[in-house]
Amino acid sequence: MKRIGILTSGGDSQGMNAAVRAIARSAMSAGLEAYGINYGFKGLVEGNIFKMNSKELDGIINRGGTILYSARFPEFAQEEVQLQGIEQLKKFGIDALVVIGGDGSYHGAEKLTKHGYNSIGVPGTIDNDIPGTDFTIGFDSAVNVATEALDRINDTATSHQRTFVVEVMGRGAGDIALWAGIAAGADAIVIPERDYDIEAIANKIKENRKNGKDHALIVIAEGVMSAQEFKEKLDQYGDFDSRAVTLAHIQRGGVPTAKDRVLASRLGDYAVRLLLEGKGGLAIGIHDNKLVATDIIDTLENHKHKTDVSLLDLNDRLRF
Ligand code: F6P
Repeated sequence: MKRIGILTSGGDSQGMNAAVRAIARSAMSAGLEAYGINYGFKGLVEGNIFKMNSKELDGIINRGGTILYSARFPEFAQEEVQLQGIEQLKKFGIDALVVIGGDGSYHGAEKLTKHGYNSIGVPGTIDNDIPGTDFTIGFDSAVNVATEALDRINDTATSHQRTFVVEVMGRGAGDIALWAGIAAGADAIVIPERDYDIEAIANKIKENRKNGKDHALIVIAEGVMSAQEFKEKLDQYGDFDSRAVTLAHIQRGGVPTAKDRVLASRLGDYAVRLLLEGKGGLAIGIHDNKLVATDIIDTLENHKHKTDVSLLDLNDRLRF
């Protein structure tokens, strides 16, 4: 093992830079060379590959985005495109590839593994929807951004006695909605993992109003429907002076939290240590605060991320 390649792919997340830094520095400290691949799998296929030096890793641990850039590249689902990627890796003498990203990126790493090329997936997505890990890099930062936004919205909701429906990201998962919703004391959290009862939510707002609480905060995961759609449905049950807000990509930007930086550092270093032990074809993650590695093919084919829906019951109890 002489050279390790690193790429970031799919939707960026805060902490990706910290992961790139950890992988490259850990490789360099073990006497290996680190090669950066720009623009994810697209850059891989195009051969947009360069040797990294320690200097360019200075001052990136706290930067949002990814210095390696990212891209959505659905073409990588085609076998011939995957083989072109492997050709490029061979051309640059890269022995193993570490992929930082979410679901789509993991499938890219899985495909390389199936072709016999050594690859490791590091979970980097705000969505927290990757099997094989309790938390993904970027999730904590996104939750903090969403929570801060919800706090701000709650202030104006209170001043104007309004109901706000706030849509957060998460693709098909409700994790950001749950965590940010609980942290902001939302009146209701609507997630794809559980059926919602809009009439019950409307009744609760009415009851709260009777008891003197005349504003409401509803957090909805994008995987259910848009904030605007939910607002329109809610309005059919009464006049709540409602507003719909979509937080969108602000959740993906900005400075990563310390928790994400530490997670990225641990996972990045772990990926390199596994490769040095001759292991690969793995998805790595954190479970009960311990670093874990699972077979990437089995993880993707037979396991699903489990959102902790007990948090929804918790919120219901706390909003009683
Ligand atoms: O996977 C991260 C994510 O931000 C999802 O939460 C969201 O559904 C999607 O990416 C948005 O993708 P794009 O930035 O390509 O519009």
